Amino acid sequence: MRIFTSKTELSFFLSELKNQNKTIGFVPTMGALHQGHLSLIEIAQAQVDIVVCSIFVNPTQFNDPKDLEKYPRPIETDIKKLEETRCDVLFIPSVEEMYSAGESWDLDLGYLEKVLEGKFRPGHYKGVTQIVKKLFDVVKPDVSFFGQKDFQQVKVIEAMVQTFQLPVTVVTCPILREPDGLAMSSRNVHLSVVERAQALALSKTLHQTVAAFPESSIADLKQQAENFLNNSDGVKLEYFEICNAETLRPAESKEEKSLIALLAATVGNTRLIDNIILK
Ligand code: PAF
Repeated sequence: MRIFTSKTELSFFLSELKNQNKTIGFVPTMGALHQGHLSLIEIAQAQVDIVVCSIFVNPTQFNDPKDLEKYPRPIETDIKKLEETRCDVLFIPSVEEMYSAGESWDLDLGYLEKVLEGKFRPGHYKGVTQIVKKLFDVVKPDVSFFGQKDFQQVKVIEAMVQTFQLPVTVVTCPILREPDGLAMSSRNVHLSVVERAQALALSKTLHQTVAAFPESSIADLKQQAENFLNNSDGVKLEYFEICNAETLRPAESKEEKSLIALLAATVGNTRLIDNIILK
């Protein structure tokens, strides 16, 4: 695996490959890689010639400085995992390489970046689009791969690609779960044994929602899920919503073409998100 820390060097290396008509797939990450990330690399490998992964803990998408500080950064283990997965290229820039002092970013995606996660983490998706645009400008991928786990992020990136008319195909990859249902996340390492067990309430609610979907109304599904989570030990619910999976507007009818249930909750000091497609 080739490792780059410089934008210019990575760009030059990739432009040579593009001249040979190789297709480039890109998997942007913040590291602390788990099987979910590695599955993105594997999905990319099946679709493109060269897979580029980036590891960059992006400061502009953290609205809580403590969260940024404690974000796990096991770089040596990450490199080993990427090598074992036969990733072709890794980009690990410094903050100075990606940002110059006093930079601003004013892409406004309106509703999409202000609801759900955007409401609880103001400015989060502004930081995400800012860094992903910068990374796209360096890597110039043909295809970029994102996990469904942050479903809203995928919608935000798709909207950004549309706004700037970027020549990138955005692929959404399925959520990977532990055998007991917990969605894989870099933040799971922060959970104690007790919290880890309590966190199962999140995926359990989503699976209960899927099971109850044929017989219940949207309002009842939401009420049942909220009751279950509010009565789950150790879980502090932020939101549970059933939305139109295209627009992320609250679902008004079960007749809408595609529906998704999304939630965020804190377990101990760890904020977790999860979702499931209902239709
Ligand atoms: O999903 C993530 O890990 C991050 O939001 C991303 C897309 C790498 C941007 O920093």
